[in-house]
Amino acid sequence: MTPLDLDDDACVLVLTGAGASADSGIPTFRDAKGLWRTHRFEDVASPDAFRRDPTLVWQFYSERRAGVLKAQPNAGHHALAKLEARLGARFLLATQNVDGLHGRAGSERLLEIHGNLLKTRCSSCRRPPFEDTDVYDESPPFCGECQARGKTALLRPHIVWFGESLDPEHLRTLESFMVDAGRRLRFVAVGTSGNVWPAAGLVDVARRVGGRSWLVNAEPAANASAFDHFVCGKSAEVLPAFLGVA
Ligand code: APR
Repeated sequence: MTPLDLDDDACVLVLTGAGASADSGIPTFRDAKGLWRTHRFEDVASPDAFRRDPTLVWQFYSERRAGVLKAQPNAGHHALAKLEARLGARFLLATQNVDGLHGRAGSERLLEIHGNLLKTRCSSCRRPPFEDTDVYDESPPFCGECQARGKTALLRPHIVWFGESLDPEHLRTLESFMVDAGRRLRFVAVGTSGNVWPAAGLVDVARRVGGRSWLVNAEPAANASAFDHFVCGKSAEVLPAFLGVA
């Protein structure tokens, strides 16, 4: 396997998906044993689902929350944190994963573009999302700040659901990093099937700005042909050598 070429002015943008946490025991979505094989995302991961059955939605996210609390970052997570330490502002990590494992591995230049399982927010007021490791598998929680104002509002997982938009600040940060990098950009997607936009379109932006792209994945993904290079393998096994931080 040819390692990522990191000459002196290379700028590295990494996008991770569920495959990057599979080696930590976190289920993916579209693999044979993925979450969308046993759940319909329309029932547990959309605003309509939450309006229809908030108890079921909280049961789904509480089970996943309990799972990530028991998981540990893997060698792939640590390799990305090491590369960030070496490159500094020339490195950026965007993750579709909501398990918090990149942060626990030490990644700081990190955009959690689909949210974080270990954060909760109010479905109504503008209080900021807050750290929350509680599980709510009996009944959904209510917002205490709304209650103090005589209102009733449910708390919800701090997750970007299907049909919801990503944080515009995240999108601006990604766009400016890629445009500023230009031909110096090395875009690396890790453990993602390329099924969900706008993350799946980042490889096209990389090409548009003149950068080069790699897909590191256990199998060819839906948009594999859009990448300049494909590295087949498990991220925990491949990333340390591929990123030159073994
Ligand atoms: N190492 C590398 N790749 C792996 C590994 C591994 N150990 N295990 C699985 N993979 C690959 C699979 O082959 C698959 O291509 O990771 C990919 C995971 O794809 P998905 O399950 O579709 O997950 P992801 O691409 O992250 O899904 C994107 O969809 O449901 C939404 O919001 C959810 O963030 C999620 C988004």
